[in-house]
Amino acid sequence: MFKKYTNQKLHKDVPMYIWKGEFNNLRKYLNELSFDKIIIFSDSNVLGIYKSSIESLLEGVSHSIVQINPGEKSKNFETFVKKSDEVLSQKITSKTIVILFGGGVVGNLWWLISSTLLRWIRFIHIPTTFLAQSDSCMWWKQGINTSAWKNTIWAVVEPEFIIVDFDFLKTLNKREVLNGVSESIKHAIIQDEDLFDWYTKHDAWNLTQEDIQNLAEKTLLMKLNIMEQNDVNKWIWSIMKYGHEVWHAIEMVSNNFLHGEAVSIGIVLTTLLEYLAWKKDKTFFQEISETFIKWWLPIFWGEDFDTHQLCEQLEHEWQLSKEKGIKLRTIKDIGKVEHLKADDIFFSVPYDTFTTVVQKYKTYLS
Ligand SMILES: NC(=O)c1ccc[n+]([C@@H]2O[C@H](COP(=O)([O-])OP(=O)(O)OC[C@H]3O[C@@H](n4cnc5c(N)ncnc54)[C@H](O)[C@@H]3O)[C@@H](O)[C@H]2O)c1
Ligand SMILES: [Zn+2]
Repeated sequence: MFKKYTNQKLHKDVPMYIWKGEFNNLRKYLNELSFDKIIIFSDSNVLGIYKSSIESLLEGVSHSIVQINPGEKSKNFETFVKKSDEVLSQKITSKTIVILFGGGVVGNLWWLISSTLLRWIRFIHIPTTFLAQSDSCMWWKQGINTSAWKNTIWAVVEPEFIIVDFDFLKTLNKREVLNGVSESIKHAIIQDEDLFDWYTKHDAWNLTQEDIQNLAEKTLLMKLNIMEQNDVNKWIWSIMKYGHEVWHAIEMVSNNFLHGEAVSIGIVLTTLLEYLAWKKDKTFFQEISETFIKWWLPIFWGEDFDTHQLCEQLEHEWQLSKEKGIKLRTIKDIGKVEHLKADDIFFSVPYDTFTTVVQKYKTYLS
């Protein structure tokens, strides 16, 4: 399947080659660009599984590898500096192309390196996780964390093209698959009632490889659908951040959560606040909570979680204030994004209500 999306900031179209087995066409697509050498930028887990496959596809092409340690801890300034040095030591020229090969962490880090080294290094992107294939690979800005805040230093660049090959998902562990499923459920709540219905009737226990690939494809197309509407309805982009107002802060307070896991908690907390503060039907909160539980996604941050620190972090991030409380995104009807109007997407919760609900959160879940 061939798709493309437009980076509205750069006015650039990014071609996407999407299907099982597309990775094998890497050489064909690369040959449409002119280059002197290739650098593969990846992490040690991905290379542990796919190094020989990618190297055999690049047989006869001058190439080298720059590798990072896997996981969120690599998204920092120290790794950025170290890996920038390593890329520079490979004697890159303006004709060098980087193959960005891995999940969201590799992507986030490379985005920044690419935009800062020698002003611009062309790259292509081969996302290998559910989350990266259906979400982060199509995001115009990406960045790294500082100790005070997540994703604070970022850049706006775009790859020459993206290859999304769902076969990579076969080697992904279940927790990482479900990390992507969380974003998929979010998209279903926003724009696909049938898919949300499917999620309510199935569960993580019986998930097949075929299901995983279908879900990743559906989620990717749902995200593309919103990105394509950006010209017409700028506010519609904002709804993709549903449940995301508190995820930064949840991840800052506890290192235990993956992105999708903090998002599932964020969405459940949002629906609870809508029920308590805005008298929305309780069944909405219950249905959403039960669905995330079936997909082994957390709806609670755990006993050791410091809720005071969460509120402090939200104030620090300017999401929460004593005067204005907090503004959260809302979904009026499952799967009916086309009926949303700009004024409909936010609701406000006063400061005292928010902090009280957060402190007593567990009692509402039982
Ligand atoms: N900028 C954005 O738009 C955006 C959107 C969503 C998430 N993110 C960021 O993305 C990051 C998470 O991305 P992620 O979930 O892809 O994490 P990740 O890159 O850390 O990958 C998760 C784990 O899976 C391994 N892995 C990757 N591909 C594999 C494969 N095919 N088989 C086996 N193992 C594989 C990795 O080595 C890693 O250990 C977070 O830092 C999050 O903040 C950014
Ligand atoms: Zn997200």
